[in-house]
Amino acid sequence: MTGIEELLLSRIRDVADYPAPGVLFKDITPLLADPAAFTALTDALAGIAQSSGATKVVGLEARGFILGAPVAVRAGLGFIPVRKAGKLPGATLGQAYDLEYGSAEIEVHAEDLSADDRVLVVDDVLATGGTAEASLQLIRRAGAEVAGLAVLMELGFLGGRARLEPTLAGAPLEAL
Ligand code: PRP
Repeated sequence: MTGIEELLLSRIRDVADYPAPGVLFKDITPLLADPAAFTALTDALAGIAQSSGATKVVGLEARGFILGAPVAVRAGLGFIPVRKAGKLPGATLGQAYDLEYGSAEIEVHAEDLSADDRVLVVDDVLATGGTAEASLQLIRRAGAEVAGLAVLMELGFLGGRARLEPTLAGAPLEAL
């Protein structure tokens, strides 16, 4: 394990039985509260953004906002929030996706993305991949290109990477 991986891992707290019995929640608030760890994470993600040739960073509500916004600033790129349905005031594009029980929808301001954009999606956790998959679909429907997906951590046993393979279509998935 590299130094940065050890540092990041040491600042992620496992919380048992949250938000439901049997779930082990990965709490990133200790990492956010540690300036060395938060800076190292931001720098690593900004490096990915720059080498991907991205023109925009998309952050996924809510923790993807906390990570993605400083990455965009550090990389000199614009930041675009992908929000849960009903939160954006302008004309939106929406994408529904399935949850374990029921479904959810995310939205982006249609005017924020164009055919000139290459977009890096940033989030804290890749779990089943449903949220990320919907965000990639939104980006393509807006006419933009997908530069890749970068996450702090990947819960490999949930199979998100395999699920995303067709949608990523060769674009990189980086998990720190
Ligand atoms: C979590 C996490 C990812 C998503 C991953 O967000 O921050 O965005 O779930 O899960 P998936 O790969 O199975 O789609 P959540 O929906 O809990 O939203 P929040 O950050 O607003 O709490």
